[in-house]
Amino acid sequence: MKKIAFVLILAFLASFSFAQSFIGIAMPETHVQRWVKDGNQLKAEAIKLGYRADVQWGNAEQAQQNQQIDSFLTQGAKALIVGCINDGVGSAIRSAARDKVVVIAYDRIIPNSKDYDYFITFNNFKVGVLQAQSIERALNLPAATKAAPKNITLFAGSPTDGNAFFFYDGAMSVLNPYIQKGVLKVVGPYPKTSADKANFQRIATENWQAPIAKTRMENLLSNDARSVTLDAVLAPNDTLGRAIIEALKADAKYRGKLPIVTGQDAEYDSIMSIKNGEQYSTVFKDTAKLAEAAILLADQVLKKQRINIPGAVLASGSLRSIGNNGQKTVSAYLLDPILVTKDNIRVPVDAGFYTAAQANQIRR
Ligand code: BGC
Repeated sequence: MKKIAFVLILAFLASFSFAQSFIGIAMPETHVQRWVKDGNQLKAEAIKLGYRADVQWGNAEQAQQNQQIDSFLTQGAKALIVGCINDGVGSAIRSAARDKVVVIAYDRIIPNSKDYDYFITFNNFKVGVLQAQSIERALNLPAATKAAPKNITLFAGSPTDGNAFFFYDGAMSVLNPYIQKGVLKVVGPYPKTSADKANFQRIATENWQAPIAKTRMENLLSNDARSVTLDAVLAPNDTLGRAIIEALKADAKYRGKLPIVTGQDAEYDSIMSIKNGEQYSTVFKDTAKLAEAAILLADQVLKKQRINIPGAVLASGSLRSIGNNGQKTVSAYLLDPILVTKDNIRVPVDAGFYTAAQANQIRR
């Protein structure tokens, strides 16, 4: 009896000592809508589990994010949740490791670092597969012929973001067989995979900046794509997809009949665009679930508990490479992405992904 009471007191004291621990949340940017939500959600989840928490956004500048991380360390953070910008984050993560602070790479891998052990994200290869499958279905590629091939142009995300490679390689795993058969033609550069660095660089979009993608689409329209009609554009996320659509809409050829344009993030503006028949698809990644899972992971690591994250699987087999940061392979926990088109537009709405006012607009 005494022993039980003693264990209970210890457990109580242990939970109390974590209760006031501080979690620093470092998000990369606000020009992509999702990160605002991610940051706020992470903070709310941390508070829900009894932590103190603060969130900062890095304005797509690694130096700025490093200062924010340093300030979290000065404030005595016990854990950091980091969605980084590029490999310049390494020095800040080294300082965290020196202070024995738990670091969780959030959504994006922290590249080239030996100084952390955990990564939580989505199955990013599958994100790309889903994007390409939506093109495959919309263009009915299995029935396409060499005599009347379909035309596609390819965009990729930021070459500084490890996710961009997985998105692209996932998509090309679906599209390459059609390209090889000659029933799908690539207009503009064609990196078969992200390993073709030179060509990948030509289709990549530095820091996921919409104006860069828009200008590149405009250039394609007046050069490589001038004498063809595009049937599809592989766009790596919603922010870039909408920028590409803007460029397309300014071209008389596509007025009233846009190519199939993909995306990802289920951003409200893109869901409305899908509803209105402009953007064709997006990939819904339930970032509320990701935030909840990330804080739970930090909590379990801090408390030295066995890791058990409902809704996430530890990457194994070929997916283990998602956790390879160039210096070591960290434990990567993966959530599942879902393809959304007009047909199942309600999926993210029903998941409670939008505000009530937004949900009403989508449902109308
Ligand atoms: C995220 C995407 C996001 C992109 C741009 C990626 O790392 O996984 O969801 O659209 O960054 O912020």
